[in-house]
Amino acid sequence: MTRVFQQWFAPRQTSPAQDELDHPLLFFGDEALTLRACCEGVFITGSSGSGKTSGSGAAIARAYLRNGFGGIVTCCKPDEAEIWRRYARETGRERDLIFFGPRHPHRFNYLNFAAQLTPTDIRPTENLTQLLGTVTDVANRGQSSNSQDPYWAKASQQLLRNAIDLVLLARGTGGLTLEEIYQTIITAPNDDEQLRSRDWQRSSRCMQLLNEARRQRHGTTAAHDLVITENYWLKEFPNLSPRTRGCVISMVTTGIDPLLRGNIHELTNTTTTVTPLQTHQGKIIVLDLPAKSYHSAGILVQLIWKLLWQQATEGRNIQANSRPTFCFCDEAQTFVSRHDSTFLMTARSSRACVVYLTQNLPNFRSALGKAETDALIGNLVTRIHHQNVCTETNVWASESISKCWRLRASSGTSHSDDSEGRERKSHNANLSDSHEYQVPPERFLDLRRGGPRSNQCVDAFITRPWPSGRGFLRVTFKQS
Ligand SMILES: Nc1ncnc2c1ncn2[C@@H]1O[C@H](COP(=O)(O)OP(=O)(O)OP(=O)(O)O)[C@@H](O)[C@H]1O
Ligand SMILES: [Mg+2]
Repeated sequence: MTRVFQQWFAPRQTSPAQDELDHPLLFFGDEALTLRACCEGVFITGSSGSGKTSGSGAAIARAYLRNGFGGIVTCCKPDEAEIWRRYARETGRERDLIFFGPRHPHRFNYLNFAAQLTPTDIRPTENLTQLLGTVTDVANRGQSSNSQDPYWAKASQQLLRNAIDLVLLARGTGGLTLEEIYQTIITAPNDDEQLRSRDWQRSSRCMQLLNEARRQRHGTTAAHDLVITENYWLKEFPNLSPRTRGCVISMVTTGIDPLLRGNIHELTNTTTTVTPLQTHQGKIIVLDLPAKSYHSAGILVQLIWKLLWQQATEGRNIQANSRPTFCFCDEAQTFVSRHDSTFLMTARSSRACVVYLTQNLPNFRSALGKAETDALIGNLVTRIHHQNVCTETNVWASESISKCWRLRASSGTSHSDDSEGRERKSHNANLSDSHEYQVPPERFLDLRRGGPRSNQCVDAFITRPWPSGRGFLRVTFKQS
């Protein structure tokens, strides 16, 4: 079991928790990391091998499990699922573990689940568009210059929205599959000639669905949406320039393509035996599709789980069930999306504890861009900084700890000649105030990184507004 002890402060008795959010989860000497601190988001940084996973990450994971939290765990490295099996064994939570992945029996039809999450008085199109739009965004990350221009993201969302809506209008949520959305897109009319050809119309899935949708009896809202959807497929889409249309189609299809195939299709587009809602009942769902082994398919499936866990958690009623739920992402740069910062803003009222581990800030920036990275880390209030060689991250960590005024003493001797050529010496001493880092960036360079050479000790600074008024603590985690 990882033991956590704090180096600088003498232990003292903590006062009883005032409310649920003040429940202590981990002690550092006389300070406690409370549920409130964890609901405000935990961000762990440190160079590769600095002890993030086996130090602070392990301590927090075990604390969550010991306290009965449910949650989802994303996996980047192939050994992560086994690490969580060990945490669960050590904390008596093995019975709550659910592994999800091609090697396990559970299935999750995420489109049906996302449609069910939508309130009954709203059509689920927009919710599903957001979900697949984010998948498309992440799949295209850094792959083309188009991904930088907001037009393409909007145009691909529009394409997805109309494809999803057409399938829903024709087939209802029961008939909604990713394959159907894909077929709608790739058989959509490209020009007036196709639209005039009866043979082509018979062969086009898009046109078949349009005819089916027209034959359905719709309520007022759906009837109105059908007119807009029809206009898109019959007028707007064929009138796009072939190059633009090709780019937009390819952005969407490259996003969903990895999800259409083989065991990933079987896992996510058939039945449902597990959903993110089970984390609210204490289940720990380990997404055993490590990114290093399953590549983009593994990343996208985990991203979908994460987005739907966020939605399910935002919509929960904590008066009826306030069991905390967590999302633990090691190598978080692989799984972050632009929805994370919005989710984090209200995570406390949903009892949601997000833990993101990454080496440095540039990792997040290359995944999200600068503005979204700033928004995200601004909403991760509890920060744990391990040994790090990234100057930018170290300066940011020092800045976030804040500066203090220090009194600096200086002295000197000056030499001069008087009017008769004799040497004169004068001595001076000064005291001046200077505004300096409480923890300067170079302090992060030589923190202990664990392993036998440092007797399994991993050092870190934890910054947040601690109840005692301190802004940071220096702590040591013991690996086990
Ligand atoms: N249980 C353990 N006992 C002793 N040493 C360990 C243990 N787990 C990991 N180590 C060692 O401690 C160091 C820190 O490992 P850890 O995997 O926690 O680093 P990390 O910061 O998560 O790195 P990365 O960014 O590469 O994931 C490494 O040298 C590792 O070999
Ligand atoms: Mg690690």
